[in-house]
Amino acid sequence: MWRRVVSLSPVISSSKSSLLNQAAYRFRIWESFATEIINPGKCGISPMEKTPFITFVLGGPGSGKGTQCIKIADTFGFMHLSAGDLLRTEIASNSEDGAMILNTIKEGKIVPSEVTVKLIQREIESSDCHKFLIDGFPRTEENRIAFEKIMGVEPKIVLFFDCPEEEMVKRVLGRNEGRVDDNIDTMKKRLNVFTALSLPVINYYEKKGKLYTINAVGSVDEIFEKVRPVFAECEEMTQ
Ligand code: ADP
Ligand code: C5P
Ligand code: MG
Repeated sequence: MWRRVVSLSPVISSSKSSLLNQAAYRFRIWESFATEIINPGKCGISPMEKTPFITFVLGGPGSGKGTQCIKIADTFGFMHLSAGDLLRTEIASNSEDGAMILNTIKEGKIVPSEVTVKLIQREIESSDCHKFLIDGFPRTEENRIAFEKIMGVEPKIVLFFDCPEEEMVKRVLGRNEGRVDDNIDTMKKRLNVFTALSLPVINYYEKKGKLYTINAVGSVDEIFEKVRPVFAECEEMTQ
């Protein structure tokens, strides 16, 4: 069994740009807020290591997940893992799945769960951090179930950035990061995928009482002020 009582307080926080960077952390007792363990035997993390505190960060394309995750990571010392960034890194590294991932992203479809979960698993298991923001995952019920099966944990909390489609389209088309999927045709497909496949995941976590819905309209700082109390509450529970 994982030890349930010890977690970590980061000294250095991570961000999207330092995805693969391992920060140094010091220990702190964190008793009451350990991530729920549903299948300890199957998680790749050694039994003697500490339970990761998982937060899933969900929302449609362009809802501001990545932007807010950087601020949460900097302020509250979480490691930020963007599923989309991990997949793009995999494409760039010419891995055997690279071509398949690129085609899937161009089509606005969802990469097979085992591929994405393995990338997330590798990051979690190679990190000394115990507090993770998993951004843009799970996108489907299949993603969610694969994560639970492979990692053997559930998220403690789930954030949902709720943003009108019109605003998401405006943001994505103005993102200017040279992404192959930030065009109007792929965006329409991504919005359809979000409605058909991702909303059921959000509803699932709402029923479980784990969902924090944040109205994602407003300035970046205004939205972060709505996010802050969620994590401030977590911090209090770690004292
Ligand atoms: P996601 O990760 O959900 O796809 P991003 O965080 O990448 O979204 O944001 C999409 C685009 O919108 C980026 O160009 C970002 O700078 C911009 N953006 C993020 N939050 C806001 C906001 N609150 N208001 C206006 N633009 C925003
Ligand atoms: O989250 P982001 O917008 O960076 O995701 C870009 C694309 O990566 C998605 O539209 C999808 O094609 C792919 N993706 C996926 N499964 C995930 C996350 C992202 O297939 N869990
Ligand atoms: Mg993003």
